[in-house]
Formats: sequence, C-alpha cells, structure tokens
Amino acid sequence: MKLFDVYPVNDIIIEKALGSHVWDDKGTQYLDLYGGHAVISVGHTHPHYVKRLTDQLHKVGFYSNSVKMPLQEELAALLGKVSGKDDYQLFLCNSGAEANENALKLASFYNGKKKVIAFKKAFHGRTSLAVAATDNPKIVAPVNETDNIVFLPWEDQAALEQAFQQYEVSSVIIEGIQGVGGINVASEAFLQKIRSLCDAHNAVFIADSVQCGYGRSGKFYSHDFAGVNADIYSMAKGMGNGFPIGAIIIAPKFQAVYGMLGTTFGGNHLACAAALAVLETIQAEKLVENAAAIGNYLMENLRTFDKVKEVRGRGLMIGIDLPEELSHVRKELLHTHKIFTGEAKPNVIRLLPSLALTQAHADQFLEAFGKAINK
Ligand SMILES: Cc1ncc(COP(=O)(O)O)c(C=O)c1O
Repeated sequence: MKLFDVYPVNDIIIEKALGSHVWDDKGTQYLDLYGGHAVISVGHTHPHYVKRLTDQLHKVGFYSNSVKMPLQEELAALLGKVSGKDDYQLFLCNSGAEANENALKLASFYNGKKKVIAFKKAFHGRTSLAVAATDNPKIVAPVNETDNIVFLPWEDQAALEQAFQQYEVSSVIIEGIQGVGGINVASEAFLQKIRSLCDAHNAVFIADSVQCGYGRSGKFYSHDFAGVNADIYSMAKGMGNGFPIGAIIIAPKFQAVYGMLGTTFGGNHLACAAALAVLETIQAEKLVENAAAIGNYLMENLRTFDKVKEVRGRGLMIGIDLPEELSHVRKELLHTHKIFTGEAKPNVIRLLPSLALTQAHADQFLEAFGKAINK
C-alpha cells in the first residue's frame, strides 16, 4: 500500500530529538524553530514528560469516559490555575479542529442560533464546521459548504457591528494571533469590541488558541492581552508536546447536559499524563515568561535587518515578512544552516519554537538569518 500523498515533505528523516534540537538519520543536528508546527512546547523528549508518560503507560494507558478519571480532575485544576481561569469547565478531545468543532457546536446549543462570524485568512481546522470557518476555499469540500459562516475583514470594527445588525449571530471565532494566515496579531481594541458585541447580542466569543495559546505568546492565552475574557477557549498543539490532545475551556454560564458533547479517546489516561507533564514543566521552568523574554529579544533584533519588510508576533510566535527576492531564505536556513522554520504564504517565515528556547539558540538563528538574507 502507498501513502495518500497529501504532504509536500522535506527529504529529511528525524531519528532523535532533545530540547530544541533534532537529529537526522545521518547524525546531522538541526535547531528546531518549528516544533512540528507549534506542537513542541516544553522541548523534545523532556525528561519529566518522558517519565510521566512512561510511568502512566506502565499503570493504565487508556480507558474511556465511562469511568471516573482523577487525572482529568487533576488536569482541570492545574490548567485552571496556570491559565488563571479557575472558574471555567474543561472538555477534553483530541485535536485543534475537534476543539473548534465542539466550541462552535456548544455555542449554538447555548443560544439556539446559527450564524458564525469568522475572519479573512482564518484557519480553524479541517473538520466540517471548522473548515467552513477557515478562509481557504481549496480545502473546503462541497459537502462542507454552508451559509452559516460569515467572513469579515480582519480588524474591521464597522463591518463587525454591521454583521451583528444583519444576522442572528451565534458565535464569533477568532485566533488571538493568526498563524496559518501569516502571523497577524489581533488588536486589543478589536478583541474588546468582539466581547462587547457578543455581550449585547447574546453571542458566544470563541478564542481559538490552538496555535497562539498555551503560553506561546508570553501570556497563557494570547487573547488575554486584551484584558477581556472569551466564553470558550480552544486549544491543542502545545498542550501535549506531541501527544494528541485538544480541549475547550468553557465559561461558568454554560450548563453541561449528559451526552451534549462526547468522544472515545478524548481525555484518556496517557493524554492527561502528557498534558499534566507539560503544565508542570511550564510552571517549574517559567516557560511563559521565557517565551515573552526570548520572543522580544528575537523580534527586536530581527527588526534591525533592513531587508525584512515586517516582523509581527508576540512571544515565540513570530512572523518574518520577507520581500519576494528573499523567498530562498527558508530553504537556505534549513539546508545550509540546519535550522527548521515554518512558513506562511506568500513569503513569511514563521518561528514556532519550543517555549524553552534559550538566548544562545536565538543568537545562533540571528547569525544564520543574517547570512542567509545577504547571500
Ligand atoms: C489556529 C488553528 N486552529 C485550529 C487548527 C487545527 O488543529 P489540528 O490540526 O490539531 O486539527 C490549527 C492547526 O494548524 C490552527 O493553527
């Protein structure tokens, strides 16, 4: 059998990983500023993470949501504490798309309405409603098409007000920092406007924190910069440092009803052990603070390169917008300097490293970047 060939891959086989480094099958070391797409939050094969998962696997790896799971309660308590949203409720699932799917569904259960406001360049996942709320017609199949989604221009407050007049809005879904869309930071004023319109119209504010969440921005959720709370936060990626786990946290005003949401795998023992290990490491190593400090250091230095059009982002979620003639830089970084980075179209280099990135790693990247753009 052949693989279903949907991924354009780099011709590299990764055989070993530790911290912010990976090694290929020939023993070549790479600095990883991509983290398998913002997934590696506490660093590859972190000893505490490996131990907690290994210990759990020796006890019980999986049982479904038909029995009591103290690990889930432990995770909810710690996530509430670390995120500062103690009074929210936790629903566990397996991926970012699934988290958003559940968030959109729960919003509609809550207020009985159907219209969802999403934004230009948004990415919310590939399941049916999440993909419909994703601004990329190429990945929306005819069966996913729905007139329940309204796309508005990014940061356009007047368009937002107008949409609330025109439609019975169930929810507004927004990334605090658009990832796939090219690292676009939502302004505090725009997020505050969403909050006040949702309040006025009994609509649900959904903060997609799948990529920009979990400490990456220098706050636990990047939406927190606006000083207002969303009703539902979705998360995945960095939550399990590579173990598939996703979640939504849900404001106290939502009442759970048996059977309303559900999943077979979500919140299983191993997934909870992975998520607990991540949060414990984030706390013990002060990784949110580190993301803010190293992220600021990187952005300040990147802004000194004349050839860079713009540097956008917060913390360790950084977009380096390059002119067309520098479209070779990402490949140059990978093949000559052995540094993994991400990309966004048309020509943005995305940095999504582990939150434990050090200043020495940042300096190594800055030096290589300087050489690559001047080649
Ligand atoms: C903002 C955002 N939401 C949702 C998703 C979907 O997550 P997953 O691939 O885990 O389904 C992604 C994935 O890149 C994302 O960046």
